[in-house]
Amino acid sequence: MLKAVIFDLDGVITDTAHLHFLAWRSVAQEMGITFDEAFNEQLKGISRMDSLLRILRHGGKEGMFSDKQCLALASKKNERYVQSLASLTQQSVLPGIGKVLAEIRAANVKIGLASVSLNAPKILHALGIHQAFDYCVDASRIVCSKPDPEIFLTACAGLHVHPEQAIGIEDAVAGVEAINAAGMLSVGIGADLKHAGLQLHSTRELTWKCLTDFWASRSE
Ligand code: G6P
Ligand code: MG
Repeated sequence: MLKAVIFDLDGVITDTAHLHFLAWRSVAQEMGITFDEAFNEQLKGISRMDSLLRILRHGGKEGMFSDKQCLALASKKNERYVQSLASLTQQSVLPGIGKVLAEIRAANVKIGLASVSLNAPKILHALGIHQAFDYCVDASRIVCSKPDPEIFLTACAGLHVHPEQAIGIEDAVAGVEAINAAGMLSVGIGADLKHAGLQLHSTRELTWKCLTDFWASRSE
């Protein structure tokens, strides 16, 4: 029986994935590193410091900065990212998300959040939907980033459900891998997520009917 649905935040609940991209791109440009949205796909679901290390490797500058300099670069990116969050309002919740959260709640199924972002609580408040979640896990509560299953397993434990009783929803390759590794059913939003149990093009398609049909098809 389906007992919980656990959501990623960036790129699933709201389009902060694009804001992360813009902030990283401006910091990278100042170091003479350029990257496009295609490379940015590899940063989705990846922690702040791991994202910086991937960008430095991409620009051929791996190992050229001290730990202190890396921390300063990550802080600079976060300052710019947090500034851009000021644009978030209740209208920034992606299409279909408000409705599906209400439908899941009405069905008495628990709702969790599994986001690697340390800014997750701030974002949920800015969107006005923090009360929709029964349990939230952010990077401060885990040791291993996605694709490790830790964040989804921690969310299941916090919701008091077994992973086999839960669906996870993600827009990142690493995120879908984490859900699968946790032993949950995975829903991928967007392109190139063929390893998801169910792949949807957009959050508009994410309805309670779609989730229950998917669940029924896997439990036959
Ligand atoms: C999410 C995003 C990543 C981001 C990470 C950390 O997983 O998909 O792009 O790097 O959160 O976010 P933070 O807000 O803590 O820098
Ligand atoms: Mg995401």
